[in-house]
Amino acid sequence: MTSSAPTVETVTDPADAKAVASVAAVTFPLACPPGTTTESTDAFVAANLTPAHFADHITASDRDVLVARDAGRAILGYTLVVHSEPSDPEVREVVPMRPVTEISKVYVLESAHGSGTAQALVAASLDRAFARGSVAAWLGVSNVNVRAQRFYTKSGFRIVGRKSFWLGGIEERDYVMVRDLTDAAGSRPA
Ligand SMILES: CC(C)(COP(=O)(O)OP(=O)(O)OC[C@H]1O[C@@H](n2cnc3c(N)ncnc32)[C@H](O)[C@@H]1OP(=O)(O)O)[C@@H](O)C(=O)NCCC(=O)NCCS
Repeated sequence: MTSSAPTVETVTDPADAKAVASVAAVTFPLACPPGTTTESTDAFVAANLTPAHFADHITASDRDVLVARDAGRAILGYTLVVHSEPSDPEVREVVPMRPVTEISKVYVLESAHGSGTAQALVAASLDRAFARGSVAAWLGVSNVNVRAQRFYTKSGFRIVGRKSFWLGGIEERDYVMVRDLTDAAGSRPA
């Protein structure tokens, strides 16, 4: 666990993509259902979480990559925030609010779990969504990832439906969670 509060910043330099991708590769398996094979997680990382993918996210006008850094500037975790129309029809059906932002990825190194790092990242991500004019934020989370569900519930999200997520040829039925950004409490999580 880290001892001091992390610094959260939006990544603007594509040269940082490699460092973010390294954290993504280490943390992605932490979110997978028990029994997920290394072959499946490796394939997912190769297809979705390479430095090239993150360089694309960093430079895209409709996305933000946020990182939490410790006092030595090492990355403790990251979020990917997508400010565009959801492409999945199941999501569009249960998330009618517009404009809407997807909190696409929230991943923190195991050593920083329970430290407030994830909370700082999500608070900053919701601020980005609010600043872009979104009235709600949504995310998908594995139905067996109880820790993440509990964390998102603490952060003001509630379950509104399900959607499919394919990993290693296996269909997972993720929960879809939503957080209203128009309430009197403002854009920050509780
Ligand atoms: C999800 C994640 C970002 C949450 O950050 P965190 O620092 O672990 O979150 P917190 O410790 O603040 O909150 C987690 C909650 O789950 C609880 N919890 C911890 N382990 C748990 C478990 N095995 N089962 C159920 N609840 C658990 C904690 O006690 C805490 O609840 P509480 O504050 O009410 O006691 C972080 O765990 C993570 O990066 N996990 C790996 C990647 C991942 O799963 N990302 C989400 C993908 S959708």
